[in-house]
Amino acid sequence: MTKESQKTNTMTAEETARQNSFIELAQTLSAQKSNTLGRPLTYCLTTFGCQMNEKQSEVVAGIMDEIGYHRQDSEDADVVIYNTCTVRENANLKVYGRLGHLHSLKDKNPDMQIVLFGCMMQEPHVVEKIRKTYPFVNLVFGTHNIFKFAELFYEMQQSEQQIVDIWEGTDQIVEDLPTERNYTFKSGVNIMFGCNNFCSYCIVPYVRGRERSREPEAIIKEVKRLAADGVSEVMLLGQNVNSYGKTLENPVTFAQLLEMLEDIEGLKRIRFMTSHPKDLSDELIETMAKSKKICHHLHLPLQSGSSRVLKVMNRRYDKEKYLDLVERIRTAIPDISLTTDIIVGFPGETEEDFQETLDVVAKCEYDTAFTFLYSKRSDTPAAAMENQVPQDVAKERFNRLLALVQNEGRKRSSRFEGSVQEVLVEEESKEKGIFTGRTQYNLLVHFAGDESLLGKYVKVHLDECKGFYYLGTLEENE
Ligand code: 5AD
Ligand code: SF4
Repeated sequence: MTKESQKTNTMTAEETARQNSFIELAQTLSAQKSNTLGRPLTYCLTTFGCQMNEKQSEVVAGIMDEIGYHRQDSEDADVVIYNTCTVRENANLKVYGRLGHLHSLKDKNPDMQIVLFGCMMQEPHVVEKIRKTYPFVNLVFGTHNIFKFAELFYEMQQSEQQIVDIWEGTDQIVEDLPTERNYTFKSGVNIMFGCNNFCSYCIVPYVRGRERSREPEAIIKEVKRLAADGVSEVMLLGQNVNSYGKTLENPVTFAQLLEMLEDIEGLKRIRFMTSHPKDLSDELIETMAKSKKICHHLHLPLQSGSSRVLKVMNRRYDKEKYLDLVERIRTAIPDISLTTDIIVGFPGETEEDFQETLDVVAKCEYDTAFTFLYSKRSDTPAAAMENQVPQDVAKERFNRLLALVQNEGRKRSSRFEGSVQEVLVEEESKEKGIFTGRTQYNLLVHFAGDESLLGKYVKVHLDECKGFYYLGTLEENE
């Protein structure tokens, strides 16, 4: 280990210890408060956005639990927390809408505390608006100082003022904070934070900062601990996992990291997202093909099928390169399930450009494609482009794309109809006695079962494809 990385680790260990001391201080306060009120204290935590947010919410939930608050689903709680997203305008509007509702709840219960954090809070105009229009919000922090939550929470208990703590960036990765996992048998694992790609429509690099990879040792330690604790499926998370490890003192490739994880006992399935097509290496394809644990599913955002649009988007691949990559992946891993993200109505997109997107969708045989209407994000290069596509034109293209995607997806995913697949049983569906499991291809299957199956791998006969999910029958399992 080099001197530099030793220094970074010591710094983070010190920070973890510091935060633990704030947890203890906050515990004392909450015990007193709970005694006075004669009831347990409660919190409600809602997460908007991606799996990275889900993962970071687990840290906040873990700290709240340690401090002595009980989680509940309804918002008439002592503390209401939102982990926000800002990737598209809709996400922001949802938060503002819900803040209006929280205001009326707080009128009834003035002791209620409101906490906002995450990506949306990294935007100066948002914080400005919260200061002015929503002064009843107690605490606002961003994406870089989530590890400081215990400290900020303790501060909030002693302050009448709105506390705002936003960092512009960080090079710290704080390990070993308490977490409250959503599932006992599967878990997300952050392998990197931030993004350096600056796709011209995307706000993520501005709100999540520069790319930072965790040390492989820290990731391995976390996955081993999870596996020992009963987790058999991990999802490695990063904005661009294919560039994992490039900025480490001792660089490691993503494929090498996967190989290091392969032998961990108890681990059965490895997933990852998101892959950027420009960085997906042959080494990774080979590693996936020979691995016994990496699921045969790749999320490979296309964004647009037009080489001209891709260039303006700053994606650094073109239509031909993307199609060639898909072909190489399918040759090496014939049963791969591919999913993608597509943006419709990017500035300057013409009908011809859009036809190119339809063409790629028809050729790639995606199992699922997530389609988005382009959303103008402040301070991104695309927001300043003059040739914005009118809403009605974008919407009409969006509907055409959606119809194609659904049709192709149905055709593609029905390929498993009649086969027997291993599924990890995840939860009971809304219908009692009907359970939901997931195949390695990330396809959902509903079948009759019982609670003892939760978290287990079982064989299920896929009777009928219903588009994005299957109806199945549990096979005799030994
Ligand atoms: N407008 C619409 N969709 C966007 N995405 C990212 N930024 C925008 C935007 N400004 C989509 C991309 C990305 C997914 C997570 O969100 O398709 O892959
Ligand atoms: Fe956004 Fe592009 Fe980074 Fe993905 S790779 S987070 S789309 S800038």
